[in-house]
Amino acid sequence: MARLNDHYLKLAAGYLFPEISRRVSAFTEANPKADVIKLGIGDVVLPLSPSVRQAMHDAIDEMATAEGFRGYGPSEGYDFLREAISEHDFASRGVRIHPSEIYASDGSKCDSANIQEIFATDATLAVTDPVYPVYVDTNVMAGRTGGADQGGRYAGIEYLPCTEENSFLPALPDRPVDLVYLCSPNNPTGVVAPRQELQKWVDWARANEAIILFDAAYERFITEDLPHSIYEIEGARECAIEFRSFSKTAGFTGIRCAYIVIPEELEGKGPKGEPVSVAQLWRRRTNTKFNGISYPVQRAAEAIYSEEGRKEVQANIDYYMANAGLILEGLSKAGLTTFGGINAPYVWLKTPGGLDSWQFFDELLEKAHVVGTPGSGFGAHGEGYFRLSAFGIREKVEEAIERITATLGGS
Ligand code: MLT
Repeated sequence: MARLNDHYLKLAAGYLFPEISRRVSAFTEANPKADVIKLGIGDVVLPLSPSVRQAMHDAIDEMATAEGFRGYGPSEGYDFLREAISEHDFASRGVRIHPSEIYASDGSKCDSANIQEIFATDATLAVTDPVYPVYVDTNVMAGRTGGADQGGRYAGIEYLPCTEENSFLPALPDRPVDLVYLCSPNNPTGVVAPRQELQKWVDWARANEAIILFDAAYERFITEDLPHSIYEIEGARECAIEFRSFSKTAGFTGIRCAYIVIPEELEGKGPKGEPVSVAQLWRRRTNTKFNGISYPVQRAAEAIYSEEGRKEVQANIDYYMANAGLILEGLSKAGLTTFGGINAPYVWLKTPGGLDSWQFFDELLEKAHVVGTPGSGFGAHGEGYFRLSAFGIREKVEEAIERITATLGGS
């Protein structure tokens, strides 16, 4: 028998979202008539916007001609997309990111999972708690941790608690680490780090020669005057990598397109302690392991930056954020303590009546037929919390709020 990767055997349980699906399937099999409303995984529900659809159609038609046919594209993405991103996502906010510093990919989940490969196996890391599980699990798989304790915390990772007391904004690590994962707007808490908070992190990273892995997949959902990019912060080009995604922004969860930004100034340490360009390693990795995303998908992504495309994207975001507002209002009226939901499509709530996160999950599923995400699935400090996603059809969201309210009143 072939020897397996022992590090995979350290992984505490199944990945969170398949585990939720498994429980929901078991429930629907037992209760086939139940009309289950899913506000668990953050998956978009609105159809593709006209600009995106048209751009994909046009790209397919183009490729069906002798002159327009394309085979392998550049692994890092076509220039037309990288230029559109540089102009609309960064220059428009006064941020200098050259198109060559942008690497298109098939998802931020993959990017935030893969980035750790270019760092040493003994690189040390810090994550927030609660946290998007991908950051942790991929480092476990890579052998950067020991086993998990009862609360699911892996030895060797520094966990930075995000609690109601610190407004879900983590303190700096109390020992030096090489890598720190930050996510703002935060999944799962829905909280956004203000400018001075990010400046604190950038100053710390530069002083400690650490690299910030900054997940900004939800930046388009920010409605207040808050930073959308780590590069809005002085000094971030020397210490940060950023992840961005078209998934939630433009309804691409099924189409797949995202990108990662690695500034040319960013350096890590080589074997003799000499500075080495991080982008150089990422390019090498990308060229070896990836042939890029398809031309029609890149044209579709480019289309969201056209005048019409921008309006359509904004309309969808407004729709989801109106859902978030309804959830916040409805649950507060029902007596729940809520967070997030103003600059992010997630509402983070305290479970009522001393229930733990999975008990509340089961109660909502069984009594209200509503699916959410147990906070403990995001880490030990998520215990006693629960996440509801605003990605739903309006009528279903309204119905879910009514059912949750009735369940709470009746429990
Ligand atoms: C979530 O619900 O946290 C996200 O949909 C997960 C993801 O983007 O991979």
